[in-house]
Amino acid sequence: MPTTSTNSLPIEAIGLQRTFGTGDEQVKAVDGVDLQIQQGEIFGFLGPNGAGKSTTVRMLTTLLRPTGGIGRVAGFDVVEQANDVRRNIGVALQDAAIDPLMTGSELLHLQAVLYGLPKSTHATKAGELLERVGLTAAGNRRVGTYSGGMRRRLDLALSLIHEPTVLFLDEPTTGLDPMSRISLWEEIRRLNNDGTTVMLTTQYLEEADQLTERIAIIDHGVIVRKGRPSELKAEVGSPTLFVSVDAAATEPATTLLAGFGELRPSPEGTLGVGLTDGPSAVSNVIRTLDDAGITVRNLELHEPSLDDVFAEATGYRLEGADA
Ligand SMILES: Nc1ncnc2c1ncn2[C@@H]1O[C@H](COP(=O)(O)OP(=O)(O)OP(=O)(O)O)[C@@H](O)[C@H]1O
Ligand SMILES: [Mg+2]
Repeated sequence: MPTTSTNSLPIEAIGLQRTFGTGDEQVKAVDGVDLQIQQGEIFGFLGPNGAGKSTTVRMLTTLLRPTGGIGRVAGFDVVEQANDVRRNIGVALQDAAIDPLMTGSELLHLQAVLYGLPKSTHATKAGELLERVGLTAAGNRRVGTYSGGMRRRLDLALSLIHEPTVLFLDEPTTGLDPMSRISLWEEIRRLNNDGTTVMLTTQYLEEADQLTERIAIIDHGVIVRKGRPSELKAEVGSPTLFVSVDAAATEPATTLLAGFGELRPSPEGTLGVGLTDGPSAVSNVIRTLDDAGITVRNLELHEPSLDDVFAEATGYRLEGADA
């Protein structure tokens, strides 16, 4: 098992920086990124094309040297202790080159060799990992014949060969159909439940929302928002509660609801209120209506979306990202 330096964050960046080129051509791909990712988290790194996601991941995984700042992974400095970092991490890169003529099983064996696992364990390990990502039947097929989803699952299996404690996944689901995306999410959740800390980059708002506990939104190399999706959404504005009651109770219900926030436009037959105190006010609303003898027929809470958060932070929308 890999060793981790004690009492340290699995992933930490302090003013991490990377510029490419010089003079007029200079690009500040990553411009002072701070990250503190906790043990056992699934952390989402969200941003549009060219925002600096891969560059950040490449620095944290020792593949690219920072031009400024500090990166620490599993307690080790990404520059000074690159080998220690590598022993502790699994990486599935966005642009990983895989020989299409090799089979999934062969690639896993090769990976086991690269990581210096005892030869006697290779076959068992490869078999286990193929099973884990649902590729047992395809294990002896050439990777060139795999679908996009199968390729991504193989990438994941390859990154797990040495049982890393910290996993970096760069856009693991980009280009996948919804079903393959969901099955990969389940696999990532399962790994996380087993104790693996995961940092994943994504352009999909819904993915960040569904899968990750905390996110950072990066735009033009700068982190513009950081936090739990629910909290970030709450900051944008209060959620809207839609309530339906019997027609006869509409008037008293409207008066009572107005006590919880501003009344908002709502679909025919329902009443809408922006909950000033957020989602936690819902139970109070129900109690208040109930105490007044008003029966609630239906109740729906609509939170602001991560797209609203993104738009507020950057001034534009991640257009079509969830299409
Ligand atoms: N090797 C390089 N040389 C010059 N510029 C680079 C290099 N690598 C990245 N960049 C630039 O740095 C910026 C950030 O790129 P990066 O690949 O980190 O973005 P990204 O968020 O991963 O985007 P995508 O969603 O498209 O993968 C871009 O402007 C890119 O052109
Ligand atoms: Mg990228």
